[in-house]
Amino acid sequence: MPTSHPSGWAHADGALRGPSWLREPTDANSLVPILWSSTATKDDGVLSVGGVSVPDLVAEHGSPAYVLDERDFRERARAFADAFADYDVYFAGKAFLSTTTVRWLAEEGLHLDVCSGGELTVAERAGFPMARVGFHGNNKSVRELERAVALGVGRVIVDSFDEVERLAAVTEELGRTVGVMVRVTAGVEAHTHEYIATAHEDQKFGFSIASGDAFDAVRRVEAAPGLRLLGLHSHIGSQIFDSSGFEVAARRVLALHARVSEELGVQMPEMDLGGGFGIAYTTQDDPSDPAQLATELTKIVEHECRALAVDVPRLSIEPGRAIVGPAMCTVYEVGTVKEVALDGGARRTYVSVDGGMSDNIRTALYDADYSCTLASRASGAPPLLSRVVGKHCEAGDIVVKDEFLPADVRPGDLLAVPGTGAYCRSMASNYNHVLRPPVIAVRDGKTSVVLRRETEDDLLSVDVGVEVGMDVGA
Ligand code: LLP
Repeated sequence: MPTSHPSGWAHADGALRGPSWLREPTDANSLVPILWSSTATKDDGVLSVGGVSVPDLVAEHGSPAYVLDERDFRERARAFADAFADYDVYFAGKAFLSTTTVRWLAEEGLHLDVCSGGELTVAERAGFPMARVGFHGNNKSVRELERAVALGVGRVIVDSFDEVERLAAVTEELGRTVGVMVRVTAGVEAHTHEYIATAHEDQKFGFSIASGDAFDAVRRVEAAPGLRLLGLHSHIGSQIFDSSGFEVAARRVLALHARVSEELGVQMPEMDLGGGFGIAYTTQDDPSDPAQLATELTKIVEHECRALAVDVPRLSIEPGRAIVGPAMCTVYEVGTVKEVALDGGARRTYVSVDGGMSDNIRTALYDADYSCTLASRASGAPPLLSRVVGKHCEAGDIVVKDEFLPADVRPGDLLAVPGTGAYCRSMASNYNHVLRPPVIAVRDGKTSVVLRRETEDDLLSVDVGVEVGMDVGA
């Protein structure tokens, strides 16, 4: 991900300016709409989402908290379903999963992609229609495959020759059949604003088209009586803004699709183009809307199918981040504010909040950029470049690397970080025995708990030694 200023941020005049794309806000009491869910507003410095003021939400549910804008989540899900009306739209559950949101997705007409037994269980407990579930994963266990087949999932996306064998055996044993897609690697790796197209890849997912493994996998699936070959599946990466990667991948995947038709005489009815559509974390990001994406992807596929003289298969996509990412923000309370002297005389302001890398690992793990805003009051203080950090025992525990916050930010203030719906709660941990925050849905002035805050009893419930106690004398 593009990040730091090449010459560093400490300048000779002692003023920290941050990365080149970061602008001082013209009005610290306003929001940049592209970063926030659709119902977020700021009134006299106080942030509201879904008609609920953030300070009120914190008074009721505590801090930190993930705030989920139900209306925005549903709008984004529906926008994909409408724009891709001729496709099946699978929500990628790895981005964020709960029984509540899974029900919302069902109501909005989406399908669901899960990639572990745990994610499958959430779908099952939510009562999500199993025929609309796709089961992913590069190392599904026999037990997971048995459950998926027994539950009647709509499709299993196979990822290795071992799995093809295993799944064939499972269907035989259970006397069932299952729809199968073959995960292929098209030699395209997309990152944010660029993609790399190579002849072969060195990563764990899928069957390589270039090596011939993908064709071989299709043949083996086709030959297994319990496996119904649906088509090819290609996912090229995440946080992508540019359709050129999809274009190169679609060309390669459709060439294989046509080869299967020609050499095996098999017309595969479906094809999945994966997910990965980017969102705006900061003002440097410029995402496409679902309608634009649908137009571009459909054009690419139709053009290639015409050139190859094959019918256009039923298409599907798997957005995760683009639906849930902007629908949530995380609210934290400021605990300490510290100024640190840097080499060259500059000073950096560290604003510590009551969460951190346990509720958002993305900054530490991917060097991801986020923004944030003061959410609990107006301030007339000048903007000061600040770094928002967590409470964990690790120097890399950074939430927002660079943001202009009012210079009078102080303990007790609430900060809100937008765009934390995807891969934050789902990748959260209990590092330092910190409790994972709740997910609070807001809508029409009301809050409802989607995931409650963890308790120390939750943590200790797996610590068998608690019952033993200690007897070492005084
Ligand atoms: N389909 C497949 C097969 C995937 O592997 C993924 C994401 C998606 C769909 C959804 O991608 P999305 O539309 O959400 O970008 N933890 C990383 C992202 C990992 C993505 C893994 N696969 C992050 O926080 O950026």
